Amino acid sequence: MQVAVRRPRRLTGTITPPGDKSISHRAVIFNAIAEGEARINNYGPGADCQSTLRVLRSLGTQIDSNGSSLMVQGGTLQEPIDILNTGNSGTTTRLMAGVLAGQSFLSVMTGDRSIRSRPMGRIVDPLRLMGAQVDGRDGGKLAPLIFRGGTLHGIEYRLPVASAQLKSALLLAGLFAEGDTVLAQPALSRDHTELMFRAMGAEVTEDGLTVSVKPARLRAIDVTIPADISSAAYWLVAAVCHPDAELTVMGVGTNPTRTGILDALQAMGADLSIINERIEGGEQVADIIARSSRLHSIEVAGDLIPRLVDEVPILALAACFAEGTTVICDAAELRVKESDRLQATSKELTRMGASVEELSDGLRITGGHTLTGARGRSYGDHRIAMTLGIAGLLASGETTIAAADAASISYPSFWDDLASLAEGVKS
Ligand code: S3P
Repeated sequence: MQVAVRRPRRLTGTITPPGDKSISHRAVIFNAIAEGEARINNYGPGADCQSTLRVLRSLGTQIDSNGSSLMVQGGTLQEPIDILNTGNSGTTTRLMAGVLAGQSFLSVMTGDRSIRSRPMGRIVDPLRLMGAQVDGRDGGKLAPLIFRGGTLHGIEYRLPVASAQLKSALLLAGLFAEGDTVLAQPALSRDHTELMFRAMGAEVTEDGLTVSVKPARLRAIDVTIPADISSAAYWLVAAVCHPDAELTVMGVGTNPTRTGILDALQAMGADLSIINERIEGGEQVADIIARSSRLHSIEVAGDLIPRLVDEVPILALAACFAEGTTVICDAAELRVKESDRLQATSKELTRMGASVEELSDGLRITGGHTLTGARGRSYGDHRIAMTLGIAGLLASGETTIAAADAASISYPSFWDDLASLAEGVKS
């Protein structure tokens, strides 16, 4: 699917982004291995979240869906009769690796081309240290992955990357292990697993950057998923960079391990009002109003990166509209996401007239160049597709985006939402 986007004269309206992808995966996986039955409301509609449902159903979990509501029957997983296919979803692959490592049956898991090129050694190595019998292509570095069970024992382990997927995989394996699993993180990554484990009765302790879990059988709980801040980010950047805009984004999850994008935009001078802050289902939620703003450059590095890891492409677009030079570094992880996002962001925004230089671990963006519509491509990556859609809302002339349907990995209604806010969008 190709989409064409033009800059609207005004950009106003109210948007409710879809249910958070990270929390959705966790709610259904954790309830599938828990004791009892649970309802999940506002489950993420994207293809990645559907991949998790497919994998769990292949493992014998009964999941009934009614729109965005799911009923999950927790219980014992069974040996699957075929290869488990995780599609494009890194979170499904990594979190399920932690679950499968702790089962007594054989399973094989693979995904699409992108998944088969993403690093899995970071998961396989510590799972083997825990006693799991795991194999994979290239000595266990790449999917397909094979799990043959094994008796797991807890380990003390220093995570080589600040990855919530890795942390969650090991915490999940730790539930099935003997003894404590103790993980030292290089920086804090999203903590949805820790919060939900606790709510489901597991003993999770945190001491600075160290997180530990004791073996446990989780208890099923109902979960209502907040709107995804990673999806909200596109509208916030659209509004603050457009000269005549006010957008309200409703019910956004504002867990502090995810709000790096709000901190970065506010540090750039963005006019954001965070209102109606509340706690829903153990997670912080708020409505956010974003208005046209005069932005200036900042430096983005270190501990902030894991708090906005999926928002780097859209933050780079915001930096194109900021006065001065914004430097994003310590972000080498972006090279091993659904695409090499540093390269894709730099290439595609440069094609539109921006000054975006690729660094080995980040981007250097000099603002103040106006963007001109161009023919862009998504690299099959949802975050690149949506970043280019917003770039099209801010550029002169027409921007076309090839393979724009990649957005449906996390946000299937993205192009409809964009069309509802701005005239001049055709697919
Ligand atoms: C996720 C963690 C992040 C993020 C991904 C979802 C999660 O990956 O990029 O989209 O749900 O745990 P890493 O933690 O591996 O960086």
